[in-house]
Amino acid sequence: METLFSGIQPSGIPTIGNYIGALKQFVEIQDQYDCYFCIVDQHAITVPQDKTALRKNIRTLAAIYLASGIDPDKATLFIQSEVPAHAQAGWMLTSISTIGELERMTQYKDKAKDRKEGIPAGLLTYPPLMAADILLYGTNIVPVGEDQKQHLELTRDLAERFNNRYNEIFTIPEIRMPKVGGRVMSLQEPTKKMSKSDSNTKGFISLLDPPNTVAKKIKSAVTDSDGIVKYDKENKPGISNLLSMYSIFTGESIESIEKKYEGKGYGDFKGDLAQITVDFITPFQEKYEYYMNHPEILDDILDKGAEKANKKAYKMLKKMENAMGLGRKRR
Ligand code: AQP
Repeated sequence: METLFSGIQPSGIPTIGNYIGALKQFVEIQDQYDCYFCIVDQHAITVPQDKTALRKNIRTLAAIYLASGIDPDKATLFIQSEVPAHAQAGWMLTSISTIGELERMTQYKDKAKDRKEGIPAGLLTYPPLMAADILLYGTNIVPVGEDQKQHLELTRDLAERFNNRYNEIFTIPEIRMPKVGGRVMSLQEPTKKMSKSDSNTKGFISLLDPPNTVAKKIKSAVTDSDGIVKYDKENKPGISNLLSMYSIFTGESIESIEKKYEGKGYGDFKGDLAQITVDFITPFQEKYEYYMNHPEILDDILDKGAEKANKKAYKMLKKMENAMGLGRKRR
């Protein structure tokens, strides 16, 4: 069986964008791969985090993975900082990265420009840590949203560089992106991606927003003034974003949705999308509550996940150290 790895940062409460771009895909393919799903808390601290909120978000994210349908008997669910090999391998891959290639990363540029009190170095070295996350497990496939494509390309470059320079130990991972919804956009600024850490909370739908808030946010999503329900990403980014969401939740094609709303205004369309989203989120939140109310079940899953991940990651870490000549050769 091939291996799949993916991670989500506990940097806030996951949004519908994280669900569509990542979690939904994970569940659809979890039977076909040996899956490793990671709560990447060491990535989250590349921007300042409140320690109490971070701890809470880690637990919340674990319950959200499970509420999405990740089966802990099949997949390995674990927390990055509980597997020290990630940081160790991350350092080795940072050492073979160049500042130029890291500075070219769009996510670095976007996040660095908002930091008035100095740019944390971890924002720059985030991609080699992400490469370590992936390469430690001999990963074949990484399902992510479109925003992570550039980091994945760098991961492949670093793996090839390491293989050529030291020893052929890494599998070169493939990226898998959803056909629709790889980039869910902000409801308030539809040319910007929906992000869980957006300071404008109206821009995103959190997976834990109360159903009436979800409906309100969709109904007040920014669209255009021509009132025609038609997909045109360039000229009508707001309605196109909502059309993609509608299509993902119902499985209907964009064309057939457009037909259905011919001659109707945005009000009808948004009202229906609000109901569809609420119908998804209500049972989702019930499952989430179950795991939050049973911390012993959640802890057991995370303990077992960390144990399994540690075993696998440690083996690759030793291969990396041997290849680079770190430590002593054992007699
Ligand atoms: N808007 C999005 N549309 C589709 N997929 C998305 N993803 C994130 N935003 C969207 C996918 O979700 C997974 C987890 O992402 P992450 O938490 O590791 O980091 P991120 O991509 O930086 O997500 P956010 O929500 O924007 O977090 P913050 O605000 O903390 O930076 C990834 O597979 C990502 O592609």
